[in-house]
This record gives sequence, structure tokens and C-alpha cells, in this order.
Amino acid sequence: MTSTTKPAIVILISGRGSNMKSIVEAIKSGSLDVTVAAVISNRPDAAGLLYAQQQNIPTAAIDHTQFESRQSFDQAMAKEIDKYSPKLVVLAGFMRILTTEFVEHFAGKLINIHPALLPKFKGLNTHQRAIDAGEKEHGASVHIVTPELDDGPVVLQARVAILEGDTEQTLAARVLKQEHTLYPKAIAQLIAEN
Ligand code: GAR
Repeated sequence: MTSTTKPAIVILISGRGSNMKSIVEAIKSGSLDVTVAAVISNRPDAAGLLYAQQQNIPTAAIDHTQFESRQSFDQAMAKEIDKYSPKLVVLAGFMRILTTEFVEHFAGKLINIHPALLPKFKGLNTHQRAIDAGEKEHGASVHIVTPELDDGPVVLQARVAILEGDTEQTLAARVLKQEHTLYPKAIAQLIAEN
């Protein structure tokens, strides 16, 4: 199969992009058979954009602060993503709440990784909240995005034990390590199913 016939995915990031990097590495190692058509960030200074550029992946920065409304920002994002006709739109640390219109435009193709065992701990500060709640177990979930925040059907989860003396940082690091194998695996599964 030549690279042009592989299913295209577009990855959206807001920051360091370590999950995006793990997806690119899985492709390079041959364990994931897709093409990253573009990496798009809502933050022009997102560190992950630099890595994508070094990998010769097309990038775009669409700065949400330059838009008057969430709706107009989402419309600009959707227009950019549509250029690549992706099979999947992959949110990888993309820290913007999306409009229902955007989610419906990409219905069934839009996926997210969330650092908790959904339906537990939707939203932010998941690691500290899991420790504070006295949980024995924590982890990450890849899910289909629906208009309700962190609420769509779970595709795959990875679990880690919460250890005596864990801090938000130590727990986050162990969960992130799991995320890096979980996300490529979930993408491969979804591509195979569709
Ligand atoms: C990851 O831990 C991801 O699960 C989380 O942000 C981090 C991004 O890291 N996502 C969310 O909290 C979404 N609500 P990365 O930029 O290194 O991939």
C-alpha cells in the first residue's frame, strides 16, 4: 500500500503534543497504518507544532483568541480539517470545548483521549481528583466525542494503580505513559472497524 492510499487522520493539539508524537512514532514503527494529514493547534506557540513540522507533517495554527465566538472559531477549524477529508479527527490534548455543530459535523469520526477512567472524573484536574477521592485505580480513556463534555462511548481504556504516596505529578506521568500506547491502539482499532 502506498502512503497516499492510507486512511488520513488529522490531529488537534493545544500544547506539548506527546500523544500526537506517540501516534507518529507508532506509524513509523509500522504498528499503525494511517497518514497524519495535518496537525492543527489553537495555540500558535504549541510545542507539538514544531515536532510535527520536523516530521514534515503539514501544520496549521488557528488562534482561538482571534475569533469573536466559539462558533466562528469552530467553523474555521472545520474548514481547515475538511481540506484533508480525514477518516478520524483525533483530539490529543486539545483543550477547547467544542460546539455541538462542530461535533455533529464530524459525528462518529471525532475521538478524544481523556486522563481518567470515564465515566469517572470528567473535566479537568483528573489526577488530583482521583487521589482525593481515595481511588485505588485510575487511567485513561479514548472515547468518541459527543456534544456532552467527556461523555461519548468509550473505545478503549488503560488502567494504572494509584500507589501510596502518589502525587498529581507521579500519577499523571504513569497515566501518560499508558496513553502513549493506548491512543495508537484505539486508532488502529477504529480504522479496522470502519
Ligand atoms: C494528556 O494527558 C491528555 O489525556 C489530556 O491532556 C494531556 C495532553 O498531553 N487531555 C485532556 O485533559 C482533555 N480534556 P499531550 O499534549 O502531551 O498529548
